[in-house]
Amino acid sequence: MNNNDHNVKSNKEPRPPKACGWMAEFENEHDLLHAAEKVRDAGYTKTDAFTPFPVHGIDHALGIKPTILPFIVLCAGLTGLCTALLMQWWMNGVDYKYIISGKPFGITPASIPVSFELTILFSAFTSVLGMLALNGLPRFSNPVFTNAKFDRATNDRFFLYVDATDKYYNRESVKELLSSVHANSLDEVMEDSTPSELPRSILLGALLIVLAGLIPAAIVLNMRASFSDLPRWHVFFDMDFQPKKKPQQTTTIFKDGRTMRPQVPGTISRGQLDQQDPFYLGYDPMKVTSIDTEKQIYVSTVDSVANLSALGSVAQPPAGTPAAGAAPVLPFLEKLPIEANEENIKLGKAKYEIYCSACHGYSGYGDGLVSKRAASLAQDTWTPPSSLHLDRIQKQPVGQIFHTISKGQGKMASYASSITPKERWSIVLYVRALQRSRNANIDDVPVDQRGSLTDPVPSQTK
Ligand code: HEC
Repeated sequence: MNNNDHNVKSNKEPRPPKACGWMAEFENEHDLLHAAEKVRDAGYTKTDAFTPFPVHGIDHALGIKPTILPFIVLCAGLTGLCTALLMQWWMNGVDYKYIISGKPFGITPASIPVSFELTILFSAFTSVLGMLALNGLPRFSNPVFTNAKFDRATNDRFFLYVDATDKYYNRESVKELLSSVHANSLDEVMEDSTPSELPRSILLGALLIVLAGLIPAAIVLNMRASFSDLPRWHVFFDMDFQPKKKPQQTTTIFKDGRTMRPQVPGTISRGQLDQQDPFYLGYDPMKVTSIDTEKQIYVSTVDSVANLSALGSVAQPPAGTPAAGAAPVLPFLEKLPIEANEENIKLGKAKYEIYCSACHGYSGYGDGLVSKRAASLAQDTWTPPSSLHLDRIQKQPVGQIFHTISKGQGKMASYASSITPKERWSIVLYVRALQRSRNANIDDVPVDQRGSLTDPVPSQTK
């Protein structure tokens, strides 16, 4: 009744169902294989076999050619590989040149993971989608299902089907051919006359799923476009809501009812020592009374600003230049707080060669390996490390060099976290020794050793 209704509606006038091909039913796989070979030898290619279990040799018996899917997957994999390499070459080599861990630009060994991933991704998707496409899937119905006998294809019967779309198909000759094999029965497969559209309920369900899928995107868009004073939603209660006692509240845990606990008697403050002691700072904080924010200069009581400016060329910005960029000048230590002995020099040399030589070079000329490499890459973002023999740096008080190591300077980063204050001071001592070694004269050599100098340079003996 329903079917008729449908046919009337969609086709205007009912027409008899079309024949789609012939289907033969077999008792066992041997008969099926035999029949399949006959059908193949007669030249039919639009054929198919349905069996309750895999039958060996059926591909060959039906004349099915090996699938071209592996070739398609290979092409897709190569496409993925090329896409990944091109993408990385473009992004990192052309469009956004950015030094990452000193790696060269463009395609490098670091591009391998992404290339590998894209190769696999493209191949995997192509395998699945290609398999579906080559099999003509998804297909919602198949005319063979119209025959009630066909249900046994998953149980104990074997079926061979010849489709009417085959180029050699002739209704009578196919019927004759299949009658000549040991078939249990032979039926003409008729077109499926049930409605071909998807049921409304499925469409509605799909629509609901799509709409529901838009909700997270809509929430994100709304979040990005709107402002709110309210705290964010807590889907998971993180530590914001842990049970805790805030300061200045009462508690029942302690006898005195205070959440804030008094200091344990005899506590020695250690964390703040380095905010007071020139040894940790490189300058004397007691001499700093105020900061002249306009001139970006620390004003001290003892030394006047004019006095400080004698410490080095960075001390005071030249008249007329904007003061904003000028380095603040501090009452730096003029004398090393550690002893200038052999042990400290050796420590300083070791640490200098670990931490500084890469940029400043073993002799301090700013020609370390990192610097040379950067120069050879000719990147305009590179600031060359200063030569430590610059007149300006030679004149800097030891405290200022200590301060440079501790806080960094310009493009040079701070080394406070990796080098202890004592080691920093010994590096300063070693830097001083390096500077001295470039400016020594004969008076610096102990008298008894002067004789051992083989090739005195006259200009040094001033
Ligand atoms: C990563 C490279 C690098 C390392 C390592 C490095 N520096 Fe530097 N250093 C620089 C650069 C670059 C400059 C120039 C900074 C600027 O002017 O922007 C500089 C500048 C300096 C200056 C001059 C500061 C001034 O007043 O102009 C001193 C002194 C110095 N470094 C000492 C050291 C010492 C000591 C070490 C070892 C603890 C060290 N540097 C480690 C790159 C480095």
